[in-house]
This record gives sequence, structure tokens and C-alpha cells, in this order.
Amino acid sequence: MSTTAEILSTPTQTADFLPILGTDHIEFYVGNAKQSAYFYQHAFGFQPVAYRGLETGYREAASYVLRQGKVTLVLTTPYHPGNFIADHIYRHGDGVRVLALWVENATKAYEETTRRGGKSYMPPTRLQDEHGEVVLSGIHTYGDTVHVFVERTNYKGPFLPGFMPWEGFGKSEPVGFKYVDHCVGNVYLGEMNQFVAFYRDVMGFQQLISFDDKDISTEYSALMSKVMANGNGYIKFPINEPAQGRRKSQIEEYLEFYHGQGVQHIALATDDIIHTVRELRRRGVEFLETPKAYYETVLERVGSIDEPLEVLAELGILIDRDEEGYLLQIFTRPVQDRPTVFYEIIQRKGAKSFGKGNFKALFEAIEREQARRGNL
Ligand code: FE2
Repeated sequence: MSTTAEILSTPTQTADFLPILGTDHIEFYVGNAKQSAYFYQHAFGFQPVAYRGLETGYREAASYVLRQGKVTLVLTTPYHPGNFIADHIYRHGDGVRVLALWVENATKAYEETTRRGGKSYMPPTRLQDEHGEVVLSGIHTYGDTVHVFVERTNYKGPFLPGFMPWEGFGKSEPVGFKYVDHCVGNVYLGEMNQFVAFYRDVMGFQQLISFDDKDISTEYSALMSKVMANGNGYIKFPINEPAQGRRKSQIEEYLEFYHGQGVQHIALATDDIIHTVRELRRRGVEFLETPKAYYETVLERVGSIDEPLEVLAELGILIDRDEEGYLLQIFTRPVQDRPTVFYEIIQRKGAKSFGKGNFKALFEAIEREQARRGNL
């Protein structure tokens, strides 16, 4: 176990042609946005920000915007069938449609990426209301997932033009989420390198770390993964593809139930994972269980840590170390009925890697759940 965030590939150009300030928001298309908003507000502790729907004069879909730290989620559901959002939900179930990136110039972002072969989703589009103006543009990535570039320098409203402030469903306390650490995509067997090339050539990202099935394999499951990061390192998109295992891998299970390629998990960073996970568990958020045996040997692998091991064991938090430090992480169960999208909670204490040392323990836990679902 020795991975660091060293740069393995050289960027095609030295200047960052797509400067990104951060993750702007993540939009899910869901079957019942009102109930999803309640879940994210009260279970995950997101705070209500904005709303758009019939009451604001928008007659196609309802959208709820919630925020915690720098993490902004948008939950959208259509009012009628026969449109792209309804078709997306029919095919994929609840899932991520938009990974939106905050940029200084959405027109330039669009021109630079489409010139390099990015497939247009939305040409630069100016939206205005009494709070100012926003420019949006976008390109396609894996499956039905898109990247929207958001330029909001001249905007003072709660979210985007057309949205009004929204009070939420009563009060809820945040759990300590600070920012999006990374967002992972699952793609078909043999297609990982195509999307690695997309992020490198179209978006100017660099490859950080490469895993293969020797790193990540259990008796049944195997996967390959490459991590792509933008110039300033704020945005990290690992791409997974299934590798040959004896039985169906977790990536194949996802692809089968999502009916396509898409976002597998979103990792949210916290400064105090013990508080965050204790609070999430109290509110009924479901996590993968870590085998007790994991804690009997983990310190031999990772060395000394600041946190009491018995508390980490009680909460099921995993530990890994690389050359630069260590990290604490835990994974939720899927947050919808289909075994597709889930969350990772991560606290970095110097480590810049992704928990490779935990993959075996983690995947064995996932496989126990796959077996319960009859999908192994
Ligand atoms: Fe992750």
C-alpha cells in the first residue's frame, strides 16, 4: 500500500485552458424531489437554499436546492411524462444528471472544450433576473451525465435566475460536510481509457493514480480505476470499469441497475468524521458494515493515529495511510432502492490518495450486501 497523488501523465499543454474554481453544484433527477429534499435536509443535514417550480411560474419541473459547506445539491423532478427528465428517471432511477463546475468564464470553457472534441450539451446561455446574471454552458461526459460550466461572478441571488429562496421543512442541524472531495463514475468494460482521454484531452485534467485489478480484487469482484484531476487539484473524477472476477462485480451490478454509465459515489469531506458519522447514524443513514476483524490488524498497516480506535470501530470508520499522511473514510449504502448511487464520507489528515488499502475490506463488505440482494 503506497500510493501518492503523484502526476503520472504530462498535461498536453502547460497553461490550464479550463481553470475551475470548484464544484458549483450536483443535480440529481429524482422521482419525488420533495421527499428527497426532506431526506437530504434531515438525514444529511443540508440547509434549504432555493426552489423553482409551479409557484415560481416554472411549469416543467420542481427543483429544490440545498447546501452544506461548499456542497450544493439540486433535486429535480418533472411534473409530466414525455420529457428528458422523466425518461432519465424511468431508465436510471434516481441519479446524477449534472456535475456542475464553477468557472470564471463559461463561454471560454465551452469554446476550449468543444474545440478539443467535447460534445455540446448547452451552448453558452445567459440567464438574468433581478439579482443579476449567470452564464451557463455544458458538455457531455459518460452515459447521460453532463458537465455544466457555471459563471456567476455577476449574480447575487440564492442560486440561479428563476429560483426563489426556500425555507425547507422545519429546522435541521448540519453534520459537518465541507466540500466535494471527489465524484466517481462507473463506465463499461473497456471504456475507462476513453474517458481518461476525454478528461485529459478535452478538459485538460491529469491522471493522478492508477489502480488495477491486482490492487482491487476479492474473490468475486474486481475493478480498474484511474483518477483524473484538474489543474489546481480541486476537482477529482475517478473513473471505474469492471475487471474480470469470478462472479458479478459491484461495478457490473451498478451498470445493470443504472441501465448505463453514471456517477457511482460522491465523496464529501469533513473535518471531524467521528462527529459527522455519529450524527448521520443517529439520524438513520445506513452505512456499509466493517468487519470487526478489520480493527484487529489495521494499526499494523497504518501506524499510529490521533483518533481512538475503539470509537472508529464502533462507528465502522476505515483508515488508510500513504506517504503524506492518513485518511479516514466510510461508505453509505445506496441512497435509493436501486443499488446504484452512494456516498463516501472522508476526512483527510495529510493523505491525498483514495483509500486503496481499504479496498479489500470494503469490497468484501459490499459483496456481502450484493449477496443479500441476490446479485453476486
Ligand atoms: Fe471514493
